[in-house]
Amino acid sequence: MAHHDNVDLGTGTRLVGAGRRAAWTGTADHPGAVVNPPIYRASTHLYPNMAALRAHPANVDGNFYYGRRGAPTQWALAEALTALEPGAEATVLYPSGVAAIMGALMTVLRPGDVLLMTDNAYEPSRAMGCGLLKDFGIETRWFDPADMAAFEAAICPRTKAILLESPGSLTMEVCDVPALAAAAKARGVTVVIDNTWASPLGFPALRHGADITIMSLTKHAGGHSDVMMGSASAGKAWATKLRARAQGLGIVVSPDDAWLMLRGLRTMGLRLAQETTSALAIAEWLSARPEVARVLCPMLPGSPGYNLWARDFSGGCGLFSFVLKGSTSAARDTLIDALGLFGIGFSWGGFESLATPVDPAPIRTASTWPLSGMDAGDRFGVRLSIGLEDTSDLIADLERALAVWSAAA
Ligand SMILES: Cc1ncc(COP(=O)(O)O)c(C=O)c1O
Repeated sequence: MAHHDNVDLGTGTRLVGAGRRAAWTGTADHPGAVVNPPIYRASTHLYPNMAALRAHPANVDGNFYYGRRGAPTQWALAEALTALEPGAEATVLYPSGVAAIMGALMTVLRPGDVLLMTDNAYEPSRAMGCGLLKDFGIETRWFDPADMAAFEAAICPRTKAILLESPGSLTMEVCDVPALAAAAKARGVTVVIDNTWASPLGFPALRHGADITIMSLTKHAGGHSDVMMGSASAGKAWATKLRARAQGLGIVVSPDDAWLMLRGLRTMGLRLAQETTSALAIAEWLSARPEVARVLCPMLPGSPGYNLWARDFSGGCGLFSFVLKGSTSAARDTLIDALGLFGIGFSWGGFESLATPVDPAPIRTASTWPLSGMDAGDRFGVRLSIGLEDTSDLIADLERALAVWSAAA
């Protein structure tokens, strides 16, 4: 079986075949001996003689050289992710999604530069702006992704990159990525996007104007809540630079983790499709509940971000939020505690459902929470990551918990 890196093939076909080069799954005289690229555990790569060492190929992925440069298990995963990302020349792997975001920002930014970061960015991304980037002389300014005019006005000669996250992974606002990217590029600003929510299956970010697209593979690609990793994919202009910076930082992922990630990746399309269908049904159900002030699910008609989502996205995932009518923080805790089928934990994208509180107000600086149009008293949110349980069971669980909440509120 040849590896499938042909983007003309359907997503399912690419998910099945990507990264499975015969050179990695079998031996030269018995190609294709096993289905999956095996785990190559190696710090040392051996040369048969000095002539071979002297003639070793350039330091690029796909050539044995030294363990930090990877081996077939990591190369297979990177190649598979590149095959799934239209417009990508290569993918660099990082030990976490956070490392991927930082790896990309450290590739595009230099001391004295300004980074414009979307105000709905995931909290650790915001922390980079106030912490590590600041320590290295890079200034971060936040912008409201829904305010195009303010965004354009915020670009200054020192602005070198923007970081987008769409939908924002707490409050789910979708931003107009093509418009923001076009405005940034017109001013020579590099566009970096955290595309963890949709993955390239639902939003081919490079095709929509991003220069570098990042995923926390920990979420949908891993899919089983047992492995952490991140990726950054890019076209020609940035791919080599991303890899060089990652190598300079000494970044390498474990071949065991890469193998586990590849295993998860094969079923990502199926899981995303099922989780999207289930999440949408649950979002619809919640939107009709008297206890719920607002459902924040861009896949739901009428929800904030729906129009842009419907225009730009071909898929979604199981992650969305809803806001309780009135409530207190303690009553919301009671609701989350009353859920029997939802774990309480800070991740998402796994096969199992999760619930966490959403309180973005203290971290926002360029926009407000509650969102405009929402009642000021409706501010206690719950984020659900819908897994692969039966939708009817999850709805019954939510119904029970809302009754407990009503009694406590
Ligand atoms: C939107 C988003 N981006 C990035 C990350 C970071 O990924 P990781 O946990 O793999 O570092 C997360 C993790 O929660 C996330 O939600």
